[in-house]
Amino acid sequence: MNVIISIVVVIIVVSSGAAFADAGALWAQHCASCHGKDGSGNTTMGKKLGVKDYTKSQSFSDAEAANVIKNGKGKMKAYKQLSDADVKALVAYVRTLKK
Ligand code: HEC
Repeated sequence: MNVIISIVVVIIVVSSGAAFADAGALWAQHCASCHGKDGSGNTTMGKKLGVKDYTKSQSFSDAEAANVIKNGKGKMKAYKQLSDADVKALVAYVRTLKK
């Protein structure tokens, strides 16, 4: 009986884990080409577009960052395909890049 319960718990944990956005993977896929894997903006594209170094300072609020990701700003395009949960996870991820 306990074995069955453990198996069910494992299945629930694994499947719900997959539903959460993996912000690190999203960042690598969509954002790192300009902002750099580490958020420094030290990439060919980042330098060309004047991306700021987010490892040093982040002068935007969570709401501003979410808005820019959803609607774009200047040279950065809008990421309409990202869900609100993905955007929220990305904002939180950006915050972890500041040293
Ligand atoms: C084509 C290059 C490019 C890509 C790809 C890109 N950005 Fe940007 N991003 C920019 C530029 C240019 C700015 C404006 C300059 C700055 O503030 O660094 C910017 C600004 C921002 C800002 C600051 C907004 C503000 O109000 O100052 C955040 C946060 C941000 N980007 C997050 C992301 C995230 C998350 C992704 C991936 C979903 C992403 N960016 C993808 C180029 C890009």
